[in-house]
Amino acid sequence: MSFYQRQGEIPGKKHLTFYQEGQSKLYREELMSSKGFSGVYSTLYHANPPTRVKEIRPMSHSPAEVWEEAPFEYFHFITGEKRIEGAQHLARIEYLTNSDLTISTAKPTENSDHFYKNAGAHELIFVHHGSGACLSQFGSLDIVEGDYLVLPKGTIYQLQFEDPERVKLLVVESQSPFEIPGKYRNEFGQMLEHAPYSERDFKTPVLHGVFTDYNDYQLDVKKGERFHSYLLDHHPFDVVGWDGYHFPFTFNINDYAPIVGKIHQPPPVHSVFSTPRFVICNFVPRLLDFHPDSIPAPYFHSNVDCDEVLYYVSGNFTSRKGITEGSITLHPMGIPHGPQPGKTEASLGKEKTDEVAVMIDTFAPLKLTRHVQSTMVEDYYRSWLE
Ligand SMILES: [Fe+2]
Repeated sequence: MSFYQRQGEIPGKKHLTFYQEGQSKLYREELMSSKGFSGVYSTLYHANPPTRVKEIRPMSHSPAEVWEEAPFEYFHFITGEKRIEGAQHLARIEYLTNSDLTISTAKPTENSDHFYKNAGAHELIFVHHGSGACLSQFGSLDIVEGDYLVLPKGTIYQLQFEDPERVKLLVVESQSPFEIPGKYRNEFGQMLEHAPYSERDFKTPVLHGVFTDYNDYQLDVKKGERFHSYLLDHHPFDVVGWDGYHFPFTFNINDYAPIVGKIHQPPPVHSVFSTPRFVICNFVPRLLDFHPDSIPAPYFHSNVDCDEVLYYVSGNFTSRKGITEGSITLHPMGIPHGPQPGKTEASLGKEKTDEVAVMIDTFAPLKLTRHVQSTMVEDYYRSWLE
């Protein structure tokens, strides 16, 4: 994140003694940093050494099988038909993946008292349906529908939903951190006036207290495609205070103030998060182009070096037919795509759109899993025939 946060109690200077209240015991300082010691970081103060663990055991988990012989064509598949039992981190159905990111959806069946850490990837969870709280060692965050919950790699957290059966999540796991695009920030990192959102739109964790009890706690740790169960002898939220730039936060898609134009604006005006290897844009309700002869529907385009993934949230999508809530389309690099028959004409004279969708443009080709094969709409590639 591009701004500084501070919660709880921290000493006046780093790397000096900081004693637990009324005790001769020191708090244990932990630096959570990125890019070695050169990226953003936070410093956390724990009641216990964060390295304390009683037992480590591998967990049984089967990653989705890659559909190696997938044809090179356009895809439309429906997420949400399938369900894997369990809490959100174990209920993820992986659809698309490459060495930079993995895109999944999840309809968890329960809240879990296990804690979870992704030790190998940064996570972005888009809350399509559901509400509750994200509890973490940085504090707690309320989560509501439409939130992007961004969790830096290494965050220990637990999602507690009010009604887990209603929850639907889109999850992106990324090797590199989710950042606010540079075009929206000044040289000091502050958000610029022309950005479609500002620092006030980000919700950051609030630390409500420190957990210092000694009981057995289960931490599920994900690294790559494997899970391990770490049995701790103390509560993992034993942080009395922290400060820095590395922390989870939420941003709600409804707080995105879209930029509109006299003629059609390309997807980069809708960008919301960026990484070195892919970008995330969102389409939200907005006024359409106001030139009297404008064509609001997008034009045909060939992105020669970008796979384009669209997750449809709600509304009537301007350029596409047969889309339902939770549909994903994949228009791969190297072949053109664009509006389906009749959609260009239907868009003429339209003044606004109510579409909500999340787009992920990747700079390396995505591999499809067997879950795409089993949920795809047959013959989608023929849908441009009149
Ligand atoms: Fe496109």
